[in-house]
Amino acid sequence: MTVSDPVVEAVVSTVCRTATEIRQGLIGRRNTVDEANPSGETQVEADVWADDLLADRLSSIDGVGQYASEERSDVLDCGGDPDTETDAYAVAVDPLDGSSNLRSNNSMGTIVGVYDASLPARGDALVAACYVLYGPVTTMVLATEETVTEYELTGGERTIVRRDVTLPDEPVVYGFGGRVPNWTDAFSEYAREIERELKLRYGGAMIGDVNQVLTYGGIFAYPGLESRPEGKLRLQFEGNPIGYIVERAGGRSSDGERSLLAVEPNDVHGRTPLFVGNTDLIDRLEAALE
Ligand code: F6P
Ligand code: MG
Repeated sequence: MTVSDPVVEAVVSTVCRTATEIRQGLIGRRNTVDEANPSGETQVEADVWADDLLADRLSSIDGVGQYASEERSDVLDCGGDPDTETDAYAVAVDPLDGSSNLRSNNSMGTIVGVYDASLPARGDALVAACYVLYGPVTTMVLATEETVTEYELTGGERTIVRRDVTLPDEPVVYGFGGRVPNWTDAFSEYAREIERELKLRYGGAMIGDVNQVLTYGGIFAYPGLESRPEGKLRLQFEGNPIGYIVERAGGRSSDGERSLLAVEPNDVHGRTPLFVGNTDLIDRLEAALE
């Protein structure tokens, strides 16, 4: 199934092709480099390499006016202003989400948001978002204004495995990031309740954990911490695209008070507490944090 907007379709098919290359190129690129990304996290060789590949491919698409990524400080101007030109978009990418999992050979992802606004932008300016999950099989979940679809990727092509993806009504799994002693009392109290209701699934790569929530129903959270109230995850590259996908799939996203898509960004690399999952679980979370 192709996306009706030709620029979005070009972005999505380019991500499919590049993800297949990224997967194959991980071997030999699992070591850390002597650099930190703009969020201060140690980079591995594959982070830098995947970012260069995606920047190169995505920035050359007609209609992509800006490219930004978690792995580079500045927004790349690719010619075309998303604020004033109707067919120009900004693309924000987390090239390898959860790349610290490379060392232990566990799941990772690639996250892409297509914004009809220049960056930093609110999530409600997204026109599409997708993620690739490098699990035993490489899959993609793509959300557009119309629907959410899950694909398997082989040889750079995508094949539908699930149409009109929605969160199951009965939630089953939860995954909460951050160390327990660093959680706020209000979040800890909420976590104690959820632990009694759902099964723990936490793998250390947001995409792997969010994909479990989309598959089985439940909640993923990386809350604000006592030592870092803004949490760990980045609004432009992680919060907004995941919030968009989960909301399109019938769930809710929140920063603790409101939809992630309604959060005003202050910086391209700005962080946010992040909560996504079944509607009633996020409603309860917001009530617990009030
Ligand atoms: O991108 C940041 C990230 O790797 C997420 O994919 C993941 O959810 C989180 O960090 C894991 O953080 P921690 O190691 O604190 O559990
Ligand atoms: Mg990430």
